[in-house]
Amino acid sequence: MADIGTDHAYLPVWCLQNSKAQSAVAADINPKPLSNARKTVEEYGLEDKINLRLSDGLKNIAPDEAQEIVVAGMGGNQIADMIFETPWLRDESKHLVLQPMTHFEDVRRSLCENGFVIESEQTTAEGERLYLVISARFADKTCFYPDWYYYAGELPHGNRETDALFLKKVIARLQKRADAIKESDNKESNKLFKIIEEIENECRKNL
Ligand SMILES: C[S@@+](CC[C@H](N)C(=O)[O-])C[C@H]1O[C@@H](n2cnc3c(N)ncnc32)[C@H](O)[C@@H]1O
Repeated sequence: MADIGTDHAYLPVWCLQNSKAQSAVAADINPKPLSNARKTVEEYGLEDKINLRLSDGLKNIAPDEAQEIVVAGMGGNQIADMIFETPWLRDESKHLVLQPMTHFEDVRRSLCENGFVIESEQTTAEGERLYLVISARFADKTCFYPDWYYYAGELPHGNRETDALFLKKVIARLQKRADAIKESDNKESNKLFKIIEEIENECRKNL
C-alpha cells in the first residue's frame, strides 16, 4: 500500500501489523512529517517493510509499488488533483481509499466524470468530528450525475448513525453558503437550495 501524506506513518504500521499489507510506502511532501514517520517505523521495527519517501502526491511512487493507495486528511480538491496527475491510477487493479477533509463534492465529481467508480462510502466519528471515506477504482466508465449526488454521494442510502450526521453537516454547509450569496448571486443561491431539497428527497426515499 501507499499512504500519501502519511505524517506519523500510523496507518502503514497498522496495515502491516494487521496483515492488511505486505509492504508499504509512507510518503509525505514535507521532511518534518517524514521524520515523524521514521520514528514510528523504527519504534515498531518495520524498517524493512515500510519505505519512507519524500513525494508531492504520487509523483515519486512507482506503479508497481502499491495496489492500495490511501490519501487521507487533505482537502478534496488537492486529492482530486493528485489523482489526475497520476496516469497509472487509471488501472482497474489499483484501489483508492480517499478521506477528504473538505470539498467532498469535488472528489466525487472528478472521480465519476473521469472514468472512476465509487465502490462504497463510509462515515465514521472520533469524538465530535465526522469523517468520510470513499473507496474508488478506475473502471473506464464516465458518469455524469445530478449535482445533489456529488454533495451527498451514497450517504442518503446509508444506515449508519454517522451517515445521517454527516449529511446534516453537508446540508448545513450548503444552507450557510446559499444564505450568504442570496443577495449577490441569487441564481447560484437558488441552485444550492435546490440541491438541499434534492438531498432531502433522496433521504425520504430511504425511510
Ligand atoms: C493532516 S495530515 C494527515 C495525516 C494522515 N494522513 C491522517 O489522515 O491522519 C496531512 C499530511 O499531508 C501532507 N501533505 C500535504 N500536501 C501533500 C502533498 N501534495 N503530497 C504529499 N503529502 C502532502 C502534509 O505534510 C501532512 O503531513
